[in-house]
Amino acid sequence: MNWNKLSGRRVAAVLAVAVLMVSLMSCSKNLTTNTDSLYVPTAADVTSSATLADLQAGRAAFINNCGRCHGLYSPDNYSAANWKSIVPMMASRAGLSATETAQVTKYVTRGR
Ligand code: HEC
Repeated sequence: MNWNKLSGRRVAAVLAVAVLMVSLMSCSKNLTTNTDSLYVPTAADVTSSATLADLQAGRAAFINNCGRCHGLYSPDNYSAANWKSIVPMMASRAGLSATETAQVTKYVTRGR
């Protein structure tokens, strides 16, 4: 391609597309495929509604099912109330059982 022959308008159009693509890519949230950054439940995370086994199973189900279509969201990205409306919708997309859905909810809300 001979860049000298491109008109200024054409260069501007190419630049505009490039800027649009960069901004579209950067508007995604901090999604991760690095599971090390996802908290590992300990006895300190146990609540009256979530056992350690629930939280551990929830973490595994989350990692195995919730990063297929997009990166894994951090549990800290949303409030417990938000997660409780998001997880049921996503669980049906991910094909989770009722038990797995409950466990994932407990994990991402830290048992709240
Ligand atoms: C079959 C594909 C698919 C799977 C599997 C999936 N998601 Fe999603 N998810 C999407 C799509 C598409 C969007 C964006 C559009 C939307 O919000 O409906 C999304 C959006 C989200 C959002 C952002 C919602 C918002 O309003 O900001 C969260 C959080 C999320 N998913 C969590 C999860 C969790 C947790 C799981 C596992 C239970 C999961 N996803 C599994 C397709 C999927």
